[in-house]
Amino acid sequence: MAAGSRSQPPSAGPEGVDVLSAPMEICWQFDYAIGIEKLQSLYSKAKRDQWNAEQHLDWSQEIDPSKPIVDEERFGFDNIPFIQKLDPRRREAFTANVAAYRLSQFLHGEQGALMTAAALTHAVPDYEGKLYAATQTMDEARHVEVFEKYIRKLARVYPMSLGLKSLIDTTLTADSWVKIAIGMNMVVEGLALGAFHNMRRQTNCPLLRRLVELVLRDESRHVAFGNVYVSKAISEMHADEREDVAQFAFEAIHAMMANTGGPRGVGKRLPDPGFRRALEDSDIDPHEFALGMKEAHQQGLRPDQQPDAIHAFEDLMMPALVRVGAVTERSRELYREAEIPVFEDTAVLEQLEDTDTGAVEVS
Ligand SMILES: [Fe+2]
Ligand SMILES: [Fe+2]
Repeated sequence: MAAGSRSQPPSAGPEGVDVLSAPMEICWQFDYAIGIEKLQSLYSKAKRDQWNAEQHLDWSQEIDPSKPIVDEERFGFDNIPFIQKLDPRRREAFTANVAAYRLSQFLHGEQGALMTAAALTHAVPDYEGKLYAATQTMDEARHVEVFEKYIRKLARVYPMSLGLKSLIDTTLTADSWVKIAIGMNMVVEGLALGAFHNMRRQTNCPLLRRLVELVLRDESRHVAFGNVYVSKAISEMHADEREDVAQFAFEAIHAMMANTGGPRGVGKRLPDPGFRRALEDSDIDPHEFALGMKEAHQQGLRPDQQPDAIHAFEDLMMPALVRVGAVTERSRELYREAEIPVFEDTAVLEQLEDTDTGAVEVS
């Protein structure tokens, strides 16, 4: 998919294991000098603010897996005629299963984040970059732990969406740390940040709300890392290298859009196999669902039109890419040709990002 990526198709490992070959360069650093103060400060905050799922969350809270863990009115589908026409039993099952599907994507995505952060630790050329990336690796390990623990209470895990898997595989097998940071800290984490914020607002489960709040606290540092470190690296690149990175960013965005069906994730084709399973578990025919979504799209209805919802693509991903210099004059042409709008307003992104005073102690 992406320029400069020498991605190998996954090979079969033991059951449940995908094996990739990555061309990543590993970089020793022997001067141990701190050159980027902001990275050092993110590292210090990360050490200070490590929370522990076993101590800081009350796992004794009961969850009924047959009931939705999100409010139907805030879930984003209640304006879609096809969903409105479902009988109450199927509608409740749909809400419960789609929420479980989304949480499954959080879990699988966090595992991808764990591996990309580890790859960054190997590959970044600066001492403080390595220290910071090691803390992000630990953050992501705790995120995998906490989502797995929560999902176990729901007693169902759906497979990783093919689009997310392909995006993270391409990121993991990219040939430079800047591309990994773009694929992960901007594109995938942009997707995740938007989804986490929306889940925090939609859920009626206190345990899930608290859990997502803790995760978001760490993610604010991850967004800041992308901004600080990648903009510096891109600003120091030769023009050809910058174009190579811009091409990678475009292809990552383009592939993501192709898989989600547009800037706001309105499906234009049959749902992903994992999502299909969530529909089947809700006694809904995937073909009828796809048709219903297509009709809604033609009427200008989108499933995420809550007034306070965050749109990952326009509020987070594109502004983050523009801000670090990963969108060039040449690549703007590619976005134009592909009819992908280039959003540049960083207001929402900045609200979600760690600032010098932004980190809060865990209590
Ligand atoms: Fe994470
Ligand atoms: Fe993260």
